[in-house]
Amino acid sequence: MHDDHEIFLPFRPRRNRSTDAVRRLVRETVLTPSDLILPLFVCEGKNRKVAIKSMPGCFRLSRDLIVKEARAARRLGIPAVALFPALPDAKKDRRAGESVNPDGLLQQTVRALKDKVPELAVITDVAMDPYSSDGHDGYVENGRIDNDKTLPILAAMAVSQAEAGADIVAPSDMMDGRVSYIREALDTHGYTGTGILAYSAKYCSAFYGPFREALDSAPRGGDKKTYQMDPANAVEALREIRLDVEEGADMVMVKPGMPYLDIVAAAKEAVDVPVAVYQVSGEYAMIKAADKLGWLSGADAMMESLVAFKRAGADMILTYYAAEAASALS
Ligand code: PBG
Repeated sequence: MHDDHEIFLPFRPRRNRSTDAVRRLVRETVLTPSDLILPLFVCEGKNRKVAIKSMPGCFRLSRDLIVKEARAARRLGIPAVALFPALPDAKKDRRAGESVNPDGLLQQTVRALKDKVPELAVITDVAMDPYSSDGHDGYVENGRIDNDKTLPILAAMAVSQAEAGADIVAPSDMMDGRVSYIREALDTHGYTGTGILAYSAKYCSAFYGPFREALDSAPRGGDKKTYQMDPANAVEALREIRLDVEEGADMVMVKPGMPYLDIVAAAKEAVDVPVAVYQVSGEYAMIKAADKLGWLSGADAMMESLVAFKRAGADMILTYYAAEAASALS
């Protein structure tokens, strides 16, 4: 046995990990509340707060409570919220008609937020599923998703959201050509300042399960495999991302998050627009569930996952943990 003094090591990386002070000095990635976007589920009514079983700590909130939540987020230093409306079935139809109602649930909520918390950026989702009786992101005809018939519906939805005051519209539908189609519609209507955050590499993922419970928006028939990406593909993701940038996306997104960090890193290399990542409902649910069972520390797993997104190259992170993480950071 050698004693310490007899071993000569030219490199001792542990020296840079020896104390908290040193670790702070050499830390490469720093997470701040400015990196976070808080997704919120909006429902009809007043003073209404409905728990989402598979997403502990998340709720469907009526507009008045959304404003409260948004104010709290803003106070925590979170720069943006992403809104998702939960509509009763009676308001859903094949063409997502309710999505362009100027007094619709989403539009009214956007207006309230821009009125009451104007500093907060409002991001709205562009896809048919919350409004569609078929539960698909695109228009269904004879059991198939018709790409080109979907585009005008998405464009009208985006214009309606911009008119309500959305700062950024975020097409999550994965139809071909929708970014340029939406950009043109926005510009034509005078919304040249409204940004587009494209869900560019959105995979067909089991991790969206809890979200579909939250919105009651699961497809009524079939699956989303003809538009959302095959989890096995990476080259194709970069093609989708480049196409969206060429079509005018101001920011691109990779979704889900943790199982797709390789795509986040590659996206950051490939394009010169900001890259967002979405830590989706199932990722959140997994950490919450394991924490509840006492199998890991949810608070630590939350922070580790969020730092990992940034380390991989994400410029912003959509996460149901946004408020919890921002308060832990402050
Ligand atoms: C639908 C949409 C989904 C999510 C965001 N927008 C679900 C889906 O594509 O089925 C998922 C978000 C999450 O799981 O947290 N356009």
